[in-house]
Amino acid sequence: MSAHIMVFDSGIGGTTVLEHIQQSIPHAQYSYFMDNALLPYGAQSQQTIINRLSALIYFIEQHALNVDLIVIACNTASTSALSAVRQITTIPIVGVVPAIKPAAQITKSKHIALLATPATVSSSYTDTLINEHATNSKVSLYSSVALVALAEQFFFTQSLDSNKLHSELARLNIDSSVDVLVLGCTHFPIFAEQISQYFHGKVTLLDSGAAIAKRVSYLLKHSEPMVVDKADTKKPLQYYATARVSSNKLAVKLVTLIDPTQFEKS
Ligand code: DGL
Repeated sequence: MSAHIMVFDSGIGGTTVLEHIQQSIPHAQYSYFMDNALLPYGAQSQQTIINRLSALIYFIEQHALNVDLIVIACNTASTSALSAVRQITTIPIVGVVPAIKPAAQITKSKHIALLATPATVSSSYTDTLINEHATNSKVSLYSSVALVALAEQFFFTQSLDSNKLHSELARLNIDSSVDVLVLGCTHFPIFAEQISQYFHGKVTLLDSGAAIAKRVSYLLKHSEPMVVDKADTKKPLQYYATARVSSNKLAVKLVTLIDPTQFEKS
């Protein structure tokens, strides 16, 4: 049996991580789950995100999906709910957090920036990442909700509203001494090329996609039951969504997330 990897995000951003994992492990079986009914997660409370991830685990169990590994391909969900979710399941979970550490290792100007959702930027997890791994640099924080919506639109329509992108980047007014910009939201690599052009190629953009693929490969190699059998005929990638997607680009199964803790309350 091929290992079954489920990649999760609030929307389509996690596909930027999925691509890296698929390249590293082409023979695994994949599911992609987007909780787009609550998009953007960046504007949700920590408790709401924890409840939605508990509901995801419940969904996986109820539908006997036999998931071997979950990738929370969402910086917002990972920084606010990773430890809580790990407590309610035995399925290994890989989270995606902003690439602060590698950014601090390569900056020459000693001034890096994090561009992420408001929730990620203000999370204590991010604070700890900075205090532990970027002691050599100044770290400036920038948040945007608008870029998430723009990335969704770009993904599904293939057409990017450059004016909107540029005016949002202008509003952020990223300090000119920043030489490394961490894309701490999985939606943002969708237009990494255009962001890079905006900065005339003078700013290095970093995301966590490649590092996550490495981590997933490592875990698969070192966990006995998750053998990736190359001869196995795997099922095609299954997309799940909690709200309708107005596009023919993906064949999406519409599902409902039920928080199991609501049964305890009633
Ligand atoms: N893609 C998610 C992340 O990495 C967030 C998008 C959202 O706000 O829902 O943080």
